[in-house]
Amino acid sequence: MSNLVLGIESSCDETAAAVYDTRRGLLAHALYSQAAQHARFGGVVPELASRDHIRKVLPLVEQVLEQAKIDKEELTAIAYTKGPGLIGALLVGAAVGRSLAYALGIKAVPVHHMEGHLLAPLLDDSAIEFPFVALLVSGGHTMLVSVQDIGKYQVIGESVDDAAGEAFDKTARLLGLGYPGGPALAKLAVKGDARAYQFPRPMTGKPGLDFSFSGLKTHAINTFKQSDKNAKAKADIAAAFETAVAATMAIKCKRAIEQTGFKTLVVSGGVSANLTIRRTLLEFAEQKKIKVHFPRQEFCTDNAAMIAFAGSFYLDVAQDDLDISVDARWGFG
Ligand code: KG4
Ligand code: ZN
Repeated sequence: MSNLVLGIESSCDETAAAVYDTRRGLLAHALYSQAAQHARFGGVVPELASRDHIRKVLPLVEQVLEQAKIDKEELTAIAYTKGPGLIGALLVGAAVGRSLAYALGIKAVPVHHMEGHLLAPLLDDSAIEFPFVALLVSGGHTMLVSVQDIGKYQVIGESVDDAAGEAFDKTARLLGLGYPGGPALAKLAVKGDARAYQFPRPMTGKPGLDFSFSGLKTHAINTFKQSDKNAKAKADIAAAFETAVAATMAIKCKRAIEQTGFKTLVVSGGVSANLTIRRTLLEFAEQKKIKVHFPRQEFCTDNAAMIAFAGSFYLDVAQDDLDISVDARWGFG
């Protein structure tokens, strides 16, 4: 039997909708990024985000239903992001998702945003085998997770300060690269020479799987202040920063793989779009003779395909109340 799941994502500055069919796969997905509206403030303004989600969510839902060529009455369930994220932003997707499910007499499935990210690579590659180590690197989280199966997660390492994406964004802002910082810094890094400066590999000197990225940001700005402060210095610093983040991740992934004995690494979240990080982890996997999987580029950052997909595993435990409940700080694992 096939189940048709509508997914809604609204946890931060992207409004997204998708339709996933448990038999045929992903049928449609659409996304509206608010990035341009937040750019002049140098970061996401929560109130603006909430208001914009309200404007975009229903047109996007209608768009994906049309693209998927299905009527809303054919849906089996609606999965929406319950958290973590910005409270007002989450409430928009949750209110629409829960209400629409009620109106249609179908299931509503609250989804953990990070579980969506974690499962995103499986959307395109059903051959990924459990158990695996997941490296989740987004704007709000950096985690190493031991994954036994769907729903069986144990966090084995995390950032003690800034998340990886946050470190990219803050470093980009300090270098005057604007918002969103991660892709801007990555673009500049391509022109730079990573060997021009030696950046530290934080928290790799002592055992453990936790990360710390805030020192790298400080190192980047101090290096810039002591440099010629020209375009070349900026590009070299961007490249050295990116290389340090990638190398640090590879060291921690190596430890996680050795500690768990697992043969597969899954990397996802916005920062997994970074090509230097991908290349470094691919090289590491080759050396270590393990498999590494990433989501397709567009599903690294926030999207609703991952929410519809993650929700499809929880149709039996769908919401049995009418609460519009969100959890801005929902823990994981
Ligand atoms: O997963 P995501 O879309 O949202 C959260 O759940 O946080 O991740 C967004 C983060 C941002 O910090 C953004 O700068 C970073 O992912 N990011 C990148 C790249 N693309 C997005 N960081 C480095 N390199 C990229 N190419
Ligand atoms: Zn995300």
